Amino acid sequence: MLQGKEILLGVTGGIAAYKSVLLLRELTKYGANVNVIMTKSATEFVGSLTFQTLSGNPVTTDIFTLFASSEIGHVSLASRADLLVIAPATANIIGKIANGIADDFLTTMVMATRVPVLFAPAMNTNMWASRVVQRNISDLKEMDYNFMEPAEGELACGVVGRGKLADIDAIMDEIKALLSPNDLQGEKILISAGPTEEAIDPARCLTNRSSGKMGYNLAAVARRRGAEVILVAGPCAELENWGIKVINCKTALEMADAIDQNLDGVTSVIMAAAVADFRPAEQAAEKIKRDGNYCLELEPNPDILAGLGKRPDKPFLVGFAAETNKLFDHAQGKIKRKNLDMIVANDVTAPGAGFSVDTNIICIIDRDGQMTDFPLMSKENVAGVILDHMLKLKKKRRLLA
Ligand code: PMT
Repeated sequence: MLQGKEILLGVTGGIAAYKSVLLLRELTKYGANVNVIMTKSATEFVGSLTFQTLSGNPVTTDIFTLFASSEIGHVSLASRADLLVIAPATANIIGKIANGIADDFLTTMVMATRVPVLFAPAMNTNMWASRVVQRNISDLKEMDYNFMEPAEGELACGVVGRGKLADIDAIMDEIKALLSPNDLQGEKILISAGPTEEAIDPARCLTNRSSGKMGYNLAAVARRRGAEVILVAGPCAELENWGIKVINCKTALEMADAIDQNLDGVTSVIMAAAVADFRPAEQAAEKIKRDGNYCLELEPNPDILAGLGKRPDKPFLVGFAAETNKLFDHAQGKIKRKNLDMIVANDVTAPGAGFSVDTNIICIIDRDGQMTDFPLMSKENVAGVILDHMLKLKKKRRLLA
């Protein structure tokens, strides 16, 4: 998504200026070409050479900088850019832009550009809460400028409250959202992620190796593309979920219930969760002691997806198939048995695919048996192709209707 994008990174004078170095690193890691513009006071906090070295581009601090004899610096940069992000954005820069002041390179650039502008404010808690700052932000939002909410925590001045620069990953997520097509607007997608846990006794459970990464990536990418997303997640390690409603659950029965309770208005369901097929028939009240052989009796859990497939008002259903052999045959059997619109098959024994890793290798199979193979990709990119395919099928069906 960021590959080949032209990003302008505005850095203003606050202690959080050092964090914009980390933002620059992330942007370039994903292939963006970044031009950094620093205000004079920003250079008091971090040297421009750091940004120049890491971006591979000259850093602009002077309004009279000319990049080529025939080009005026700010006009040239502004016309090439895809997005301008100001991080950190001080109360001063917000106030100047809200009031039409263009007295340095960065403020001039904001006036000159027509691309989306994202502010990531960072300032003292009282300044953030002040009526004048809030009025300026609300004026700018009305003019279609985009804002990140600062984070809460201990600020550099020792005060605890809101005003810290938002998490770099959260800023990256918003940048990706602003650069994404809004092609899922109007869709309400329920996505399941992670494993389920079925208790044996108070200390032990039956579970699997799902980390939730596949489902969380689907949720993040769908949100960026304009969908309303509900994520129903089994027990996963801390995964970021900006702007997504997450419903946490443990067991397969709880997951079935959470999905059932949240189907209102849902247009598509994507079941990436690895739901336990069985649960212990009885949960021991006390920890089971080690004396001799022990036989665990299991009973089946409901098949959530198959249940959805039986509904007369069924939403568009996307299943996953975690297979270790005969990928196509097993996956196709699941499409039919569960009445799905498409299935995403992954061979969980292939290196770089399936459980816990950051990548996956998938094959998408449609109801009519048409197969599309994809190479090894990040789970973020896998999420993108699944959503593309889903959209394509939905459009096709609407045309056929
Ligand atoms: O979470 P990660 O670490 O990123 O790993 C990703 C993944 C490997 C978990 C994911 O890519 C994946 O394959 N998810 C589906 C796992 C699974 O349970 O597959 P299955 O073939 O057993 O089930 C088929 C489909 O039925 C799945 O969509 C599953 O969610 C659903 N199902 C299964 C059992 C059940 N009782 N109810 C269900 O709804």
